[in-house]
Amino acid sequence: MAVLIPLWTHSPTTDTAVIQGFLAARGIAFERWEVPTAAAEIAKKARLGDDDKATLLAIFSDRLREKAETQGYKACDVVAIRPDLPGVDEALAKFDRVHFHDDDEVRAIVGGEGVFGFVGDDGRQFTLTMQSGEYISLPAGMWHWFYCLDTKNVTAIRLFKDNPSWVPHYRETERGRPASHGG
Ligand SMILES: [Fe+2]
Repeated sequence: MAVLIPLWTHSPTTDTAVIQGFLAARGIAFERWEVPTAAAEIAKKARLGDDDKATLLAIFSDRLREKAETQGYKACDVVAIRPDLPGVDEALAKFDRVHFHDDDEVRAIVGGEGVFGFVGDDGRQFTLTMQSGEYISLPAGMWHWFYCLDTKNVTAIRLFKDNPSWVPHYRETERGRPASHGG
């Protein structure tokens, strides 16, 4: 279940309607996607092969097609972060700095969990812990960062308006952390 924490209050909420309203006011779409058992089983694997990724995309093909048609997303892929992947800490460090992209950042979490942090237009920060079955679309140009909790386990479908690419524009901004996440 998603947890939203405005870092100026540190009061968490798990109420879906509250979370959706809070995020929508900031241009961020948040949805719940049902994860069928077949997808959950794939997301439990220690490694995902190309066939696993293709199967995941096929399982969610209706939703992905709808997003492509209504939002203009042209491409999608699957990423699987695992704690024992070579170079995982270096890869995660790239995400865990305040940055924006020229493309929307769109993720459907189908296994594990991860945390998005955001810098609002007013400079105030908030975090959204996302788990399996949750979808987010944050618009191009929005300052944000992403980190994994100790499990370092997340499987996500990504959608792109451009070709699959992850080009960050960084700035040096101190990131807040919910007290429960350490650091
Ligand atoms: Fe990003």
